[in-house]
Amino acid sequence: MVSSVSSLHYVRQNNMETKNKKTIKVIDNQTGQELTLEVNNNTIRAVDLAKLGVTVYDPGFLNTASCISRITYIDGDKGILRYRGYPIEELAEKSSFMEVSFLLLYGELPTSRELEHFTHRVLRHTFVKQSLVDIIKATPKDAHPMGTLVSMLAAEGTLYPDANPAINGGDIYNSPMIREKQILRLLGTMPTLAAFIYRHKVGRPFNYPAYGGSRSYTENFMYMLDSMDDPSYRPNSTLVKALDTLFVLHADHELNCSTAAVRHLTSSGVDVFTAFSGAAGALYGPLHGGANEAVLRMLEKIGSVNNVPAFIEAVKNRKARLMGFGHRVYKNYDPRARIVRKLAYQVFEICGKDPLIEIATTLEEHALKDKYFIERKLYPNVDFYSGLIYKAMGFPTDFFTILFAIGRTPGWLAHWLEYLDDPDRKIARPRQNYLGSEERSYIPMTQRNSSGKYSTEYVSPAEKRRVNGFAVTSKM
Ligand code: CMC
Repeated sequence: MVSSVSSLHYVRQNNMETKNKKTIKVIDNQTGQELTLEVNNNTIRAVDLAKLGVTVYDPGFLNTASCISRITYIDGDKGILRYRGYPIEELAEKSSFMEVSFLLLYGELPTSRELEHFTHRVLRHTFVKQSLVDIIKATPKDAHPMGTLVSMLAAEGTLYPDANPAINGGDIYNSPMIREKQILRLLGTMPTLAAFIYRHKVGRPFNYPAYGGSRSYTENFMYMLDSMDDPSYRPNSTLVKALDTLFVLHADHELNCSTAAVRHLTSSGVDVFTAFSGAAGALYGPLHGGANEAVLRMLEKIGSVNNVPAFIEAVKNRKARLMGFGHRVYKNYDPRARIVRKLAYQVFEICGKDPLIEIATTLEEHALKDKYFIERKLYPNVDFYSGLIYKAMGFPTDFFTILFAIGRTPGWLAHWLEYLDDPDRKIARPRQNYLGSEERSYIPMTQRNSSGKYSTEYVSPAEKRRVNGFAVTSKM
């Protein structure tokens, strides 16, 4: 069946033959060919449809499950988020980032001995090698921290040839020891890289990790950010708790764009650092983790509560996007946003209230009452208020997403582990729907017409200046 006009007819089937088994019957209305598809956990196997000669067209993966996972559960309609079955609200209140990391990675909450051992080992892996320090120092001070992080993660991968499948074969990750080592390295060095990138940005010498003391993971991170050459420096405990809670809230979110990227890259057999570099690149984008930065820039642009109604109108007229609103999965209030909103006020008590919070809450009020947002089920997501916390804590706006990256590290790692053990794993290689030219013969230069797609006009003034400087006679 190759006709592009053929139509398929889907019928839910429940007859004697398929008793107790949910199936769907698909009928090709053009050829009459029938196909019975098994439904397991509300999924059909897309590859079964190949028997009818059709592929599934799903740009953006709106309705495509690419793996079976047991890590994070989201019910977008009800606004539910659970890590390994535990509600995010309970974890945010009672747990810690190290405990949640353990939970995501190993499936269960740790005993106190396990947690102590795990935390100690992670903190013993917080030192980064000198060549990474040298690279950070070589980056421009105004480089975007996420751009630097992407590079640092790729560079970090070059430092461990022993753990690189390209050098030592694809099966090296079968070793639990080797897996564990990469987990510790990535969880351990992520805050150090972020802190060094920050210190480089603000022009201060780097503080090396203070492991071995009683400092927690997040306290150690804040120590690296803020100590002024004082090894006894202890950051404010409420701020440590707030940041730790934000890390918990960001720790995993099933198959978001960056986590899907970890799985996608890992499927090619590449080392985990390069996979993380790709994931960090995906996170950097304003529609994903970069939204926290984008929200702040949006609020600053709006400038005043009085400008909110006009901004909402601009969004409805598609002249602007309400950053920090909307989600592919949540069609209800993002449960993380509720917690972040509360957390913001705790941080304001210490660092002072950020005036932009008034604009943010007014925006939210307007949007939640407006038909455009109600109809599309657009609610604040985790990034709507997190940027305000980071701003109140004095982080530079372009530093926000790297904080998200620290939080997301255990989630990326948990998916990496799950993927390595997935019996269904295969190199990620989507199909395309080709609608380009049919076969045609090569056209000699003298017979060609310009397609008009390449413009000789796109030359910058600086390029024109340079070109003219060499007295090129035929102008471009
Ligand atoms: N502002 C205005 N309209 C929106 C927004 C928004 N933030 N989000 C979605 N819509 C509209 C969209 O224009 C579309 O309208 P229509 O059907 O009339 O064309 C409808 O709602 C459905 O949106 P969509 O773009 O098809 O939804 P999606 O699932 O493809 O995109 C999203 C999800 C998060 C990319 C999108 O909601 C968005 O761009 N939000 C702003 C960026 C943001 O806050 N990102 C952070 C996401 S949460 C954390 C994370 O993942 O890192």
